[in-house]
Amino acid sequence: VRDGLWMPSVRLDRANTFGLPAEAEFVCRPKHLDELRTVVAEAQKRGLEWWVMGGGSNLLLGPQIGGVCLMPAITGIKVVVETEDDVTLDVGAGVNWHELVRFAVGQGWSGIENLALIPGTVGAAPIQNIGAYGVEIAESTVGVHVLRCADLGQELLPAEACGFSYRSSVFKTTAKGRYLITGLRLCLSRRFVARDDYPDVAQELRRMGLAQPVHPAQVAEAVTRVRRRKLPDWRRFGNAGSFFQNPVVSTEHFARLQRDIPDLAGYPAAKGYKVSAARLIDLAGWKGRREGAILVWPRQPLVLVNTGGGTASQVLTLAERIVNDVVRRFAVQLVPEVQLVGISHAISAESSAQDRQG
Ligand code: EPU
Repeated sequence: VRDGLWMPSVRLDRANTFGLPAEAEFVCRPKHLDELRTVVAEAQKRGLEWWVMGGGSNLLLGPQIGGVCLMPAITGIKVVVETEDDVTLDVGAGVNWHELVRFAVGQGWSGIENLALIPGTVGAAPIQNIGAYGVEIAESTVGVHVLRCADLGQELLPAEACGFSYRSSVFKTTAKGRYLITGLRLCLSRRFVARDDYPDVAQELRRMGLAQPVHPAQVAEAVTRVRRRKLPDWRRFGNAGSFFQNPVVSTEHFARLQRDIPDLAGYPAAKGYKVSAARLIDLAGWKGRREGAILVWPRQPLVLVNTGGGTASQVLTLAERIVNDVVRRFAVQLVPEVQLVGISHAISAESSAQDRQG
């Protein structure tokens, strides 16, 4: 332990929005690129594994996590190029996502206003290609600034190389562990075109008397209102947003589901149709159900809430019951949207509760 950069045995209970009890063997908070390089080199020398935590808002943490927890604290928003039509920005991985959205709409720049109030940091945003209300971060991403773990060299990976798709990218699939994200290059528009086709947002704008919004701040405000109403505030009710991804089913499977559930919505996806996980969980009767400290949020059953004193093991037990039930009723396999850290157990319909003992 040196430089005050390495902190041993750090509690993460209040650093993860689920509010789960967890302890990291080491935590490091590098504030700039050189510090990040030093930390990674040191971890490699000592043979310590590392993992990255941004805002801790999309994680399910196990109670004891070995290795180094890296919390990139690289900040700053810099304009790289400005034209009449748009502006290109470099944003540090440690910047709070919603602060960036507020800054952008404050300048009248549009492209990310639909992503208002998403918790977490800028560095975490491209990993799961954050999305809400018809917009994904991939659409305004020019590239992702990374540090290659192999040789600690710097690179700007162009968006095309990031493999963005629904809630996914190369950073959590084929290139997992290869890079550390240090920043994001975004291109935002100075010419506002509202993305208000999503029913919840359109309805909220009408309610605000702004059926034809003229500024990105108005859309950001509508989104903020919808989210405040539907999603639990993690400061009061620990949660990690959507716990599961919306599943994609084959065209034939979708047709079969629609025979039983005539009003089931389906959105054309690469290999079939994306269906609402919330709807299936709701139909299976889990909405508002509670097991121990964990509650299936009544206004959005895709969100699991730690009402206080809950543990990762309790969350896993409930999640698995839901997965099993949805498979049994609809033959649809739900996949977690949250990332599991320090948990060896995978959530699947086949595994049993015993796997997790110890
Ligand atoms: N629904 C129900 N019952 C409910 C709630 C919803 O049946 O109690 C059904 C409705 O049919 C509704 C549909 O679920 O139309 C979809 O619900 P919603 O529009 O709230 O969105 P979602 O698909 O459940 C996704 C994202 C959210 C994002 C919203 C809004 C995923 C996994 N989740 O949820 O993202 O905020 O759309 O765009 O894609 C997150 O990733 O953590 C997250 C919160």
